[in-house]
Amino acid sequence: MSALAQVYAYHERTKHRLDRYAASPPTLDWDHQPDPFRRFAGCETLALPLRADDSATTWQDLFANPPAPQPLNLPNLALLLELSLGLAAWKQYGAARWALRCNPSSGNLHPSEGYVICTGIAGLANGLYHYAPAIHALEQRCRWAAASRDSALYLGLSSVIWREAWKYGERAFRYVQLDCGHALGAFSYAAALLGWRLELVPCSDTQLSALLGLDRRADFAAAEAESPDVLLRVVTTEALSLDELLTASRQGAWQGQANHLGGEPQFDWAAIDEVAAATHTEQALPVPPADEAAQTAVAAPLPSTCALPAAVLIRTRRSAQAFDASTVLPRAAFYRILDALLPRPTQTPWSLWRYSPRLHLVLFVHRVEGLAPGLYALPRHDGAETSLGNAFNAQFDWTTPEDCPPSLPLRHLISANAQKAARTLSCHQDIAAHSCFSVALLGEFAATLAQHPAEYRRLYWEAGLIGQVLYLEAEAASVRGTGIGCFFDDSVHQLLGLQDPQWQSLYHFTVGGAVTDTRIQTLPPYADLERIR
Ligand SMILES: Cc1cc2nc3c(=O)[nH]c(=O)nc-3n(C[C@H](O)[C@H](O)[C@H](O)COP(=O)(O)O)c2cc1C
Repeated sequence: MSALAQVYAYHERTKHRLDRYAASPPTLDWDHQPDPFRRFAGCETLALPLRADDSATTWQDLFANPPAPQPLNLPNLALLLELSLGLAAWKQYGAARWALRCNPSSGNLHPSEGYVICTGIAGLANGLYHYAPAIHALEQRCRWAAASRDSALYLGLSSVIWREAWKYGERAFRYVQLDCGHALGAFSYAAALLGWRLELVPCSDTQLSALLGLDRRADFAAAEAESPDVLLRVVTTEALSLDELLTASRQGAWQGQANHLGGEPQFDWAAIDEVAAATHTEQALPVPPADEAAQTAVAAPLPSTCALPAAVLIRTRRSAQAFDASTVLPRAAFYRILDALLPRPTQTPWSLWRYSPRLHLVLFVHRVEGLAPGLYALPRHDGAETSLGNAFNAQFDWTTPEDCPPSLPLRHLISANAQKAARTLSCHQDIAAHSCFSVALLGEFAATLAQHPAEYRRLYWEAGLIGQVLYLEAEAASVRGTGIGCFFDDSVHQLLGLQDPQWQSLYHFTVGGAVTDTRIQTLPPYADLERIR
């Protein structure tokens, strides 16, 4: 089977259907859940300062009056990591205690691991570090030869697919990629707080494995593997060529042994190995060049009215477990949330993601002030309105809601009470119906995969990025969001009248007035840091 056919086969077999869920373990041994915290034994560990409380930039200023680029130093790198992959809180219920992080994760299983590559930062030897969020510290994996250099900063992401497969079985590969997209978004917002812009570095999976030391079999001998995902560069710093990076890491002094995460496999999810192989890249996929001029063609963003410090918003972001089925979202807040999803080339996080948008929204509007409940669409580029219009149910009217800002391509499709449909389609979850609105993200599936089978992963990364924007913009609008990975794929397509694989629903999301479970205690993220370090 070709790699492309493998991807199609994986996608098809991991669809949830009304009469059959994708294959997953029939029972879970919660006492032996995989450890969500990877550590490397035998590394030098550098404790990072906690800085989030010092960061005063408000959410609205992040967009209206972005901070000037801050110096590249250890405290600022610490802030970047704390507000992206760092802990946001500990939760406690009875004897159970679990950590939450600034980045969300399907099932709170956290497959994403973060790495730092840096040169020329006082207090940090040049080389590669693994970020250990539980203790907010860097573990030095590779020390490069001690040449003095200009300062350069790169960030890497990898995934322990097993953490998700333990719970979700075959569909887990999709969730891992969505989580990676959320982590990209988390990096992008935290960098923006420092006035730093990130860009994707074209790099193959084989190269990234070598750079992050993921291919060092002996270092992972007893440990679950990590798959390479993304390399990012902080644009305001020195650019090193990929060859330079690879040579320095080949010649560097490596240390550290990855820990065994546990949760012994009782099933062999061969479909995951197959799609991982089919989407592995030996050659870097192209990254579109920066086109700042394109910004002039884009309407100014709708302003945010949120005056909370962005660092507070990022750390108090949570997934709603339940919604009140009564909160009505003001229309201006709804429009601002949607506007933030439009791909403005210099706006966070889209400055990082320079691809033409490949995901578009179908909205199930339940409770938005002055908007008729029903189905709506938000095509994220001009051409998508026509192609979605041709592909969707012919009954849809594609009218623009009265008083919708001209820059926002929101289209009414059909008026209806869509709560029951939203709940059913999202695996019967009430959170899709009791919110103000829920969303299905439709990907330009066939056209994107035709470019390269590995674009499958990037489609999900874009969906995760959209999810991260929705999470944070929901908080900024005093409501709350939740990602929804569980939905009945083809039933969503049927509702919309879609008949071929050109469009596929890849992720759902819901936003509304959250109901908080007061029995669960919230504890600060790093109160006992001195003890555990
Ligand atoms: C990709 C993804 C899929 C998710 N799917 C669901 C879902 O189907 N149902 C649900 O209740 N929560 C879902 N969640 C929410 C996670 O359970 C939540 O992010 C996790 O428990 C961590 O909590 P936090 O977001 O408050 O940090 C999803 C989150 C992500 C990122």
